[in-house]
Amino acid sequence: MSKGLKLFVLLLLIATGGFLYRYPWSQHSTFYMTVLFSQKIKNSDFDQDTIINVQNKQPTETLKNLTERAEVKNYTAVRLSDILSQGNGIMFIETTDRMKPSPLVLCAVESAARVYSNRSVVYFMKGLPDMHGVNEESEAKKIFPTLSSFDNVYFSPLRMEDIFTGTPLLPWYKKVDPKREPYWTHVSADGCRLALIWKYGGIYMDTDIISMRPIPDVNFLAAQSSKFSSNGVFGLSTHHSFSWRCMEDFVQNYNGAVWGNQGPQLFTRVLEQRCEIPNFVSTEDIKCGNISFLNPQRFYPIPYPAWKRYYEVWDKVPTFDNSHALHLWNFMNKEQKMVVPGSNTLVDHLYKQYCPNIYNALKNNENIYPNLTKDTT
Ligand SMILES: *[C@@H]1O[C@H](CO)[C@@H](O)[C@H](O)[C@H]1NC(C)=O
Ligand SMILES: *[C@@H]1O[C@H](CO)[C@@H](O)[C@H](O)[C@H]1NC(C)=O
Ligand SMILES: *[C@@H]1O[C@H](CO)[C@@H](O)[C@H](O)[C@H]1NC(C)=O
Repeated sequence: MSKGLKLFVLLLLIATGGFLYRYPWSQHSTFYMTVLFSQKIKNSDFDQDTIINVQNKQPTETLKNLTERAEVKNYTAVRLSDILSQGNGIMFIETTDRMKPSPLVLCAVESAARVYSNRSVVYFMKGLPDMHGVNEESEAKKIFPTLSSFDNVYFSPLRMEDIFTGTPLLPWYKKVDPKREPYWTHVSADGCRLALIWKYGGIYMDTDIISMRPIPDVNFLAAQSSKFSSNGVFGLSTHHSFSWRCMEDFVQNYNGAVWGNQGPQLFTRVLEQRCEIPNFVSTEDIKCGNISFLNPQRFYPIPYPAWKRYYEVWDKVPTFDNSHALHLWNFMNKEQKMVVPGSNTLVDHLYKQYCPNIYNALKNNENIYPNLTKDTT
């Protein structure tokens, strides 16, 4: 391939999406971006020398030349499937165009990056643009400074059609009219997490979960209460029959007018098809076939009716020894309570301990999105 053609292919890739942005250790002033080849582009579309050396994550000579010609500096290219190839990535998703995640979202991602320091943490954001060149590259640069020091944090545009391709959800997605769906943000997020976990394996987490310690189980669902599963956090190995069965049931029993029908209720009814779920007696987990059904204590030690407790001052700060992570019930938080550094509330202590970057940025009154000029929400 000629240099010109290669540049064209690179720009074409940039235009087709499927990119990840990766942040350098903060002490490097230069931007280091991971570019992700779209699933649609196959190896065979490239000369051997344009394939990027993923192992050491260094640009090849060819890519270096290309990037210089495109005036895009210091990036390297890997595929999403490489980043998630261990089948143990931690995934978060944002299905609106919102590009200014709340401090809680930044805390969720940061705490996961810390707890799972040798695993990839990918935040899929619908509002992340496909890259068209230098301007967006410099705009994408340092979007979230509180996460920029984590080598294992990646950002990827969320493109639903790509995500649903190859799953039972694609025909549904092509038929559904988002404008007529009362809970589209939730329903589409319910579908995306299943398809992503089916394809790549790993752990899905809602963006209002603060990670404290690693979840030891690989295949697990989280009980929200006895006999009732949540879908706010779960882990499954790649191509696990449970995620496939959930996607089939999602389509067969689809009812977009019923909140949760494609979410917690779906997980609960598919789990019930596999075994009879007993009540929890104490703080034990339950085994359902090859899936662990984790005790409500693991993620929901504070049940949702008591969600305000997170924003209150406690006599003694609990250590949550029986929990892996804490779900903060953000959907209950209609009044938009936020962490106030120094307030001595429970959430104040949690941020300080599990997501100190965002905590310190808030405490020092720093702009947490210094380089975002517009937000489409
Ligand atoms: C890329 O980053 C390295 C350090 O990580 C730096 O030495 C080099 O000058 C950078 N190259 C460009 C083109 O910015
Ligand atoms: C990550 O670290 C943990 C504990 O340090 C270790 O048990 C595990 O094997 C590591 N995983 C990978 C993929 O390196
Ligand atoms: C889990 O169990 C189901 C049967 O309930 C089986 O079809 C599936 O292959 C098992 N998956 C794994 C990863 O062991």
